[in-house]
Amino acid sequence: MAVLPIRVVPDPVLRQKAKRVKAIDKSIRKLVNDMQETLHAASGVGLAANQVGISLRLIVLNVPENECKVIINPEIIRRTGERIVNEGCLSIPGYVGEIKRSELVRIKGQDSKGKEIRIKAEGLLAEVLEHEIDHINGVLYVDHLESQDKLHKIEPPQDTSPQAE
Ligand code: NI
Repeated sequence: MAVLPIRVVPDPVLRQKAKRVKAIDKSIRKLVNDMQETLHAASGVGLAANQVGISLRLIVLNVPENECKVIINPEIIRRTGERIVNEGCLSIPGYVGEIKRSELVRIKGQDSKGKEIRIKAEGLLAEVLEHEIDHINGVLYVDHLESQDKLHKIEPPQDTSPQAE
């Protein structure tokens, strides 16, 4: 396993729509392991493959009290409600922004063995899932800012900063 460098804005890979994972082979299993190690090293809650330079539809998660750690080819099938959150991103270090996310999301995708999974999520998990699925579509949270004054600079590194995705 290896900690991979995290791409930061304005790296063009962050703006590409990622391709579907066709087969979960040895290289994908290695990528999942490396991404999990990278996420852990960065103390993050979620990471998308294009954040480590691989333009594939694959995300890893580390949301407290949630056992879902990887989703391959994730898709949002339903969004319900609206709430305001303060969000950060490992690819946009030093900032947090106030944006709107859904209260509840339903996701489908595949687990690390290729089995179809469906997830109903709320709270932090829903936020992270929307954030990571945005990433694989080339979208960043700053795209959802209603105005630039909703974006705030923070002092990195900061142990108490909002969890980064
Ligand atoms: Ni992010």
